Amino acid sequence: MARILDGKAIQQQILDELKPRIARLAAARRPPGLVAVLVGDNPASQLYVSSKVKTCRELGMYSEELRLPESTSTEELLRHIEEFNQREDIDGILVQMPLPRQIDSRRVLLAIRPDKDVDGFHPFNVGQLVANAPAPRACTPAGVMELLRRSGIEVAGAEAVVVGRSDIVGKPMALLLMHAHATVTICHSRTRDLPAVCRRADILIAAMGRPAFITAEFIRPGAVVVDVGINRITDRAEAERIARGAPAKLAAFEKNGSVLVGDVHPGDVATLASAYTPVPGGVGPLTIAMLMANTVECAEKRLG
Ligand code: GUN
Repeated sequence: MARILDGKAIQQQILDELKPRIARLAAARRPPGLVAVLVGDNPASQLYVSSKVKTCRELGMYSEELRLPESTSTEELLRHIEEFNQREDIDGILVQMPLPRQIDSRRVLLAIRPDKDVDGFHPFNVGQLVANAPAPRACTPAGVMELLRRSGIEVAGAEAVVVGRSDIVGKPMALLLMHAHATVTICHSRTRDLPAVCRRADILIAAMGRPAFITAEFIRPGAVVVDVGINRITDRAEAERIARGAPAKLAAFEKNGSVLVGDVHPGDVATLASAYTPVPGGVGPLTIAMLMANTVECAEKRLG
């Protein structure tokens, strides 16, 4: 039986460890403060942002949510960021990605003060990551590293294969694994014989955003499989393909008319892996935990 890597439980551990640090800051000066900026009305992004703000408040941190219309210009967004850069009570600034097409994302990320960049997306912090120097790290890949570490999964010397090369997950994930002494392969849509490359993996990270794409032929028996994907399925035939060996997924589809699935086939991974992250309840909670950790860290630096 494969071990399920419980992201919710590990999230709770991390949050519990942050509580005394938050209390110390609140008693000495003020609680850590985070602002989350959401542009437009992408329903998934709305859900992520409210979840981040809610977790902040539950931990006793200060948090603010700025919602801007879909039509917002780069200049308008930059004005808000400048204000948050200056504000004494804000330690972390998060701009939810993706941004609407007319916004120049690169200029936006460059505008955030690197010492308030709790997402680790500013080019300075990306450079620090490449150099393995201290700085806020991108939350999802950092969360995956915490999950592996706290689950006792040996990374040093392991063959790690990362599928997906995004700036937010794939690239930083590969660098973190490399710094932890894994032998890392990055794959993408042009990789030849992707299943064969994936089958080399002791640790397989799926982060390409294609529902249940990683099936049995990609998974070496006994591998650890981490699923970063989150996709909502509304098509019945697709739900039936995904439910092979995972009947709970079809039951959820029948009940709600849709079902959440990762980039990994849930039935196949349960059969083949030694350990894997479920969707939902795997990597997602860790992303939020690391955002909280980054915010506390930035507050501690700023408040001395
Ligand atoms: N979009 C998907 N993941 C993330 C994340 O970790 N941070 C932000 N800001 N946007 C995202």
